[in-house]
Amino acid sequence: MRIKGGYLDLSSPAQAGGVPVLVLKEGSNRSRGREAQHANITAAKIVAESVRSALGPKGMDKMLVDSFGDVTITSDGRTILDEMDIQHPAAKMLVEVAKTQDNEAGDGTTSAVVIAGELLNKAEELIDKNIHPTIIIDGYKKAAEKALDTLEKIAIPVDLKKQDYLKKAAVTAMASKIVAEYKEYLADIAVKAMLEVAEKECITYKCDVEDVKVEKKTGESISDTSLINGIVLDKEIAHSGMPKRVEKAKIALLDTSLEIEKTEFDAKINIESPDQIEAFLKQEETMLKDMTEKIVAAGAKVVICQKGIDDMVQHFLARKGIVAIRRAKKSDMEKLAKATGGKIVTKLDDITSADLGYAALVEERRIGDDKMTFVEGCKHPRAVTLLIRGGTERITSEAERSLHDALCVIKDILEEPKVVAGGSAPELEMARTLKMYAETLPGREQLAVKIFAEALEAVAITLTENAGLDPIDILSELRARHDKGETWAGIEVLEGKVQDMTKKGVFEPITVKKQMIKSATEAASMILKIDDVIAAGKMKAPPMPPGGAPGGMYPGAGEY
Ligand SMILES: Nc1ncnc2c1ncn2[C@@H]1O[C@H](COP(=O)(O)OP(=O)(O)OP(=O)(O)O)[C@@H](O)[C@H]1O
Ligand SMILES: [Mg+2]
Repeated sequence: MRIKGGYLDLSSPAQAGGVPVLVLKEGSNRSRGREAQHANITAAKIVAESVRSALGPKGMDKMLVDSFGDVTITSDGRTILDEMDIQHPAAKMLVEVAKTQDNEAGDGTTSAVVIAGELLNKAEELIDKNIHPTIIIDGYKKAAEKALDTLEKIAIPVDLKKQDYLKKAAVTAMASKIVAEYKEYLADIAVKAMLEVAEKECITYKCDVEDVKVEKKTGESISDTSLINGIVLDKEIAHSGMPKRVEKAKIALLDTSLEIEKTEFDAKINIESPDQIEAFLKQEETMLKDMTEKIVAAGAKVVICQKGIDDMVQHFLARKGIVAIRRAKKSDMEKLAKATGGKIVTKLDDITSADLGYAALVEERRIGDDKMTFVEGCKHPRAVTLLIRGGTERITSEAERSLHDALCVIKDILEEPKVVAGGSAPELEMARTLKMYAETLPGREQLAVKIFAEALEAVAITLTENAGLDPIDILSELRARHDKGETWAGIEVLEGKVQDMTKKGVFEPITVKKQMIKSATEAASMILKIDDVIAAGKMKAPPMPPGGAPGGMYPGAGEY
């Protein structure tokens, strides 16, 4: 073992009594100290740089082509990073920031990544001035706490009896997306949808974005997107002889196939006469008829089955005037059970009338070139579907992502009814208080808190740059107006001027901003704390783990 620059060199053979001792596997790569830090910070900065131009209403979109040639056009931070298929371990941590931000708050993924990148960029400058990373990390921790404190202090409380802030936040979330032209219309729908599924708890609500079912169908335009009070299934009715419309429908939800099950082993039946064939077929028919009878006996008028339905059963059901849908998605079955009050039956023998759900109307309708089934007027009204329309599949997909952001910000406010204005006003206000706070700190931590404040200003700089404005002029004006006590002075990029953002109706949930600070600080601190990267060499022939993709792939440090 050799000592290199104060470190133990584990990757080169050491001599112990003349015998070489290998600690790491052959082909392993190791980088450490400044070199490791620099590589990690650079990789993370590149990731942040790649999403920067997508921030804000004037941000650009990215076209991402995956290995199958499928194209995604988006300005959603998380989607961009997910599709980029990043390999570098430190860069991957920024992808994690976007993921956490998306899971916890649903919006603000681009901002969180931009701030994390800037925190690292500024930290590198201090490291180069010989300030130890742990001092920077401590400073960042203190700064983050102070920033969160400031957010709480400046936040505007929301009265949930009125829906104006919900709508404004939804409009802001969609202002930066391809669907921006229709943001007002879509925001109305999103607010209605979320309020329909939210459960009231004293003054706040509890809600799950997943309760709003989203279906998309190419055709018409985004302005034809609609909210349906009920569940829409992307399925047509199984048999042409079945009714297309059933009112006051009792619905059986089945998680069992209405087919004769095949045996797991091969069996041979010796048939010696035509009578035997007939008897055999008759037997099969009786079994299938029995299945139909059980459904009829339970009193169902509609059958929605997660698995297959035999042609013969479809025929029998059609004769009885029962509507059937086969191969429904598991997630749809769960939503249907919740909405119609029905139970998902796994064994047909057990079905009784008590298991059936209820909907006022089940109807097949033609949407574009396809047919979809609408289950409306459900027993429990907390079931809604957003049916997204749009000229091409790419537009409907981006509309789905944008509506997801809108639903998330509405949920955020319903769960924590506080908002802040947008256009970088809260970031500038946090930066201002942090700079004052820094003055109270002793020594080098002061520098760390100051660069944290500067990193927050990166949001204003990026929004301005993306709008083709001059960041120096705008930033100086923003700083000056915040110093004068204008808490909500922000850059209104559509007008290209510094404005009071509360007057412009640009609001965002406090949850998004808080999470942005937390996830960006955590990721930056984690990356700064690494001073040693030990990477195993690439496996020559990766073994296939049982039923899985090749495991153990990890790029060597030299390949980053
Ligand atoms: N009219 C406006 N003027 C200025 N800034 C605005 C305006 N509308 C929205 N913004 C700002 O744009 C930023 C949001 O941009 P964007 O939605 O592209 O990124 P994100 O929310 O950070 O990430 P993502 O939406 O990709 O998860 C917020 O800082 C918001 O305040
Ligand atoms: Mg956004």
